[in-house]
Amino acid sequence: MQKRTLGKSNLTVQPIGLGCMGFSHASGDPTDKDTAVRRIREAADIGYDFFDTAECYTGIYPDGSISCNEELVGEALKGIRDKVIIATKMGVSHNADRSLRLDSSPSAILASIDQSLKKLQTDYVDIYYQHRIDPGVEPEIVAETFGRLIREGKIRAWGISETTEEYLRRADAVCPVAVIQNRYSMMARWHEHIFPVCEELNVGYVAFSPLANGILTGMYDATTQFEGAQDYRAAMPQYTEEGHAKAKELLDYLQMLSKEKNATSGQIALSWVLGQRPYIVPIPGSRKAERIKENFAAGDMSLTADEMQKIDELLERSDFMVFGGHGAEVNRNNKSTRS
Ligand SMILES: NC(=O)c1ccc[n+]([C@@H]2O[C@H](COP(=O)([O-])OP(=O)(O)OC[C@H]3O[C@@H](n4cnc5c(N)ncnc54)[C@H](OP(=O)(O)O)[C@@H]3O)[C@@H](O)[C@H]2O)c1
Repeated sequence: MQKRTLGKSNLTVQPIGLGCMGFSHASGDPTDKDTAVRRIREAADIGYDFFDTAECYTGIYPDGSISCNEELVGEALKGIRDKVIIATKMGVSHNADRSLRLDSSPSAILASIDQSLKKLQTDYVDIYYQHRIDPGVEPEIVAETFGRLIREGKIRAWGISETTEEYLRRADAVCPVAVIQNRYSMMARWHEHIFPVCEELNVGYVAFSPLANGILTGMYDATTQFEGAQDYRAAMPQYTEEGHAKAKELLDYLQMLSKEKNATSGQIALSWVLGQRPYIVPIPGSRKAERIKENFAAGDMSLTADEMQKIDELLERSDFMVFGGHGAEVNRNNKSTRS
């Protein structure tokens, strides 16, 4: 597999990273600790070298105790710390109704990194993200504080999640931003207008939810029951009856193509993301060993120009973008052309 560079950090990683969130957060009851640690470690054993977590990825086990995702990642990777790239995030916590509380004040940044280092059992984080823009703090202040963490050796590089172009430019002017982490998949293309900015500033693009939260694998339909109140997918628009109906043509096409290529629909979806730009690294999440393996293998396949074009034509013809989300409305039609 050809490694990819995480923008200005110059860190290189395998084309597919592992999103670890689901072991603790938003995918139903958290996975029990031993299994989660084993799965993450097995992922490293099969070649994953880029692991994504966040301080707010927590969940509640049936006995009322807390699953802390950073602790799982730290436990799984502590013996091979120098062989992997760990990314975590700060600045977001969840209210009981799942709405977000944002705090990127300097004091929050300085306190969060120390907590994360402890939970991750490490003395440095490779990529440290501001998880969401905090409207109460200017990007220059945030950038200056992340810069301080770089100078202190607590982090190697920094990034911004769900950034806008303007915010990225202002932050980058104060302390060079290595990567952004924004949502991106066949069904979520509204950030494509930021690609030229990534190229201009040498910023890598980490694509979160690259399987559109799983629906692009074709493994779910309107009868799928999600696993309880902690599974956020139950409330996502793509998993409503309307969402499934909207996605059908695309999912049928991916299934047909996957048969031709002896692959899976999910692998086609990840391959399409990889084919968009050489600096994009998707980080699909799964809690299941076989799926973790399947997703990683997508880094070894590619779509021909003809296959990419046919998918693009289908995406252009119909509106498969079912999400809300930052910039979704204004940029629905602001799709980019591959260069
Ligand atoms: N920066 C941010 O704000 C942000 C937001 C969301 C996510 N993220 C990061 O991005 C990562 C991935 O995003 P995501 O989990 O939201 O979406 P995703 O990767 O698009 O989809 C994950 C979902 O798809 C299922 N899945 C994965 N591989 C599959 C396969 N091969 N076949 C069938 N189903 C499959 C998983 O279920 P199972 O676990 O049951 O396999 C999981 O529920 C997260 O882990 C997190 O690290 C970041």
